[in-house]
Amino acid sequence: MNWLLTGGCGFVGANLADALLADGDSVAVLDNLSRRGAAENLSWLRSRHSGNWQFIDADVRDAEAIARVVRHGQPRFIAHLAGQVAMTTSLANPRLDFETNALGTFNVLEAVRLHAPDSAVLYSSTNKVYGSLAGLSYGETSSRYTLVDHPHGLDEALPLDGSSPYGCSKLCAEQYCRDYHRMYGLKTVVFRHSSMYGGRQFATCDQGWIGWFCLQALQAAAAAANPLVISGTGKQVRDVLHARDLVQVYRRAARHIDAIAGQIYNIGGGMANSLSLIELFDLLGRLTGRPMHWQCQPWRAADQKVFVADFRRATAGFGWAPQVEHHQGLAEMLDWSRGLLGSSLRVA
Ligand SMILES: NC(=O)c1ccc[n+]([C@@H]2O[C@H](COP(=O)([O-])OP(=O)(O)OC[C@H]3O[C@@H](n4cnc5c(N)ncnc54)[C@H](O)[C@@H]3O)[C@@H](O)[C@H]2O)c1
Repeated sequence: MNWLLTGGCGFVGANLADALLADGDSVAVLDNLSRRGAAENLSWLRSRHSGNWQFIDADVRDAEAIARVVRHGQPRFIAHLAGQVAMTTSLANPRLDFETNALGTFNVLEAVRLHAPDSAVLYSSTNKVYGSLAGLSYGETSSRYTLVDHPHGLDEALPLDGSSPYGCSKLCAEQYCRDYHRMYGLKTVVFRHSSMYGGRQFATCDQGWIGWFCLQALQAAAAAANPLVISGTGKQVRDVLHARDLVQVYRRAARHIDAIAGQIYNIGGGMANSLSLIELFDLLGRLTGRPMHWQCQPWRAADQKVFVADFRRATAGFGWAPQVEHHQGLAEMLDWSRGLLGSSLRVA
């Protein structure tokens, strides 16, 4: 196999698998189908691609199963995407979070070290490894918080401060990736992703906030919504990255693997694709033709006021920069969300 995608039936995995298969790569999609929507993504991949790929029903917490897959498959690239992905779930079940993210990643790395040391591992980490970013200086406008000292966004030199079990388990996992390069020479690369969105994302109120608010906007437009309640003031800002750009991160990094092995990159839509919640609601209201209304409640633990990725290191390292402009991407996301509302897989 060329590629092994753990978590390959998730949002990122399904988009990446689809793009790789369309270009003739061979792909193994490994997933335990625990995520809502994963089975639908598997059916979607089956409906679009008949050959050159296989589905492996396995769990990254199962070290022997992962070792078997890696030993037999000898993948050239492993996109390790399987994970417990919600901060809220990590607070409710920190053991599951640790075992999936930290131990699951360790199992993948050990399988590679012992059975396929030439395989490259591309790992999807998160900006949550930087913690709440309470020490930064923030400005404030009528619609958003701003970063006073970082006009291009936040780079990889920020201090690490994993916060919430999710932040800690991802930080642990990415540090193992980096260190397995230093200690054992494995070709590992870490991407610290900020928010991502696009088709094949089955958003919930706990994860995938762009998709979730698209669903809320459509329900508000159909006058079927409960009052929208948000944490914080609505001025919190994130950069957003569309699935098409995201796929290119993994593909371009793979092409440059020998030059970038051992590196860590902040990946996101950047300042040009940054939005506060207030700005997102305004934009969605205009796109659906129905203004959105919301109520504020206290901040969630460890919430960042602003995270915008400075992706210039990724541009220098492997020639990647986002191309999909967020107005366009959001219009497409509304289309995908319309389909979800009309499907049997109702909003959770
Ligand atoms: N989507 C985002 O905005 C975002 C942001 C930052 C980081 N990330 C990271 O990117 C990766 C992919 O995210 P996503 O949005 O595609 O999430 P997703 O939930 O859509 O996909 C994750 C997949 O992993 C599978 N999975 C979960 N536990 C597993 C296990 N123990 N064994 C095997 N498979 C398992 C799920 O069934 C699911 O299909 C995750 O590691 C996530 O932490 C995502």
